[in-house]
Amino acid sequence: MFGSMTFCQEYDCLWVEQVFYLSSSITESLNTDTIRLAGHSDLDAIVAVAIAALPADPVNPYRYPRWQEFPEDYAKFTRIRYAGWLAEPNNVVMVCEVPGSDLGNTPDAQERETAGLGTVEKGDRRIVGFSIWELPPSQRVAAQDERADRDPSSVTTENALGRLSPALNSSIQAKGVQAPSKERPDANPARVAKYTEEFLKAKHRFFEEPFGDKNLYLSILACHPAYHRRGIGKQLVRWGLEKARREGLDLTVFGSPMGSLLYRNVGFREVGKFRVQVDGEEEYLDTLAMVLENKDIA
Ligand SMILES: CC(C)(COP(=O)(O)OP(=O)(O)OC[C@H]1O[C@@H](n2cnc3c(N)ncnc32)[C@H](O)[C@@H]1OP(=O)(O)O)[C@@H](O)C(=O)NCCC(=O)NCCS
Repeated sequence: MFGSMTFCQEYDCLWVEQVFYLSSSITESLNTDTIRLAGHSDLDAIVAVAIAALPADPVNPYRYPRWQEFPEDYAKFTRIRYAGWLAEPNNVVMVCEVPGSDLGNTPDAQERETAGLGTVEKGDRRIVGFSIWELPPSQRVAAQDERADRDPSSVTTENALGRLSPALNSSIQAKGVQAPSKERPDANPARVAKYTEEFLKAKHRFFEEPFGDKNLYLSILACHPAYHRRGIGKQLVRWGLEKARREGLDLTVFGSPMGSLLYRNVGFREVGKFRVQVDGEEEYLDTLAMVLENKDIA
């Protein structure tokens, strides 16, 4: 059985439209979903979820306003960006998998497969959500060693080199965050550059300065639209909450309109916002800064 509904969301200057696809097989499988550490072999599945989910976060259509006109470029650069996230040794990438899911029967999944964007299958399980966490400075090298022990496939030339070179780490991280490129026909380079500038300032002001070594920052959270409102995003965030509780860390995130609803639900509070507006443009983007201090974790 298949059904759909349309959901519109106002976010200051932007309207974002999201189509949800619901399938009867989803509810049957969700009791056994699992959260696990991602390896490099999960790249295609993560990219497929990102392509389906992230256009609903206004920061993406703001920076890449022509993503629908240039879907292949959007997919290509999204893949490069996520390869960077996965290779970055200071990141922990977690995925949520469900068994026997039905993503392939949804129109957007079929469209992606027709466009050669790949399938998200992995054995009999399918990745439907992911989170990317940037470790607190005090844990970075240790986390890399630990990840290598647990999952040898996560060790790539880039992160092996990154262990030796902080400069390379920063460069990979910067690429992952901004990816500004005149070669990208889907992007608005002025907005990408302005966003990166304001983002880095806000990250320092709201998160890095106040929380320092204890700052566990959630870079990205996404759940495939076919699986929204089934607790997947919350489980991925709970992984970070548990880690923060155990290790005395504070949690920080820039919340999209959809993400903020979830973050408030688990106890985050707003501490400010930052605005991005390119000179001469009326359009602007406001983004909420949210924190959940260790003492407030329920
Ligand atoms: C944000 C996102 C990851 C949430 O994933 P999800 O799996 O649907 O979220 P959950 O089912 O775990 O929701 C947990 C709680 O958050 C709140 N919530 C999440 N999405 C909501 C929505 N669309 N409307 C209202 N409340 C919402 C609810 O309180 C919900 O609990 P409930 O369903 O028991 O009422 C998903 O909507 C998404 O991928 N959005 C597009 C990308 C994005 O904006 N990412 C966040 C970047 S900061």
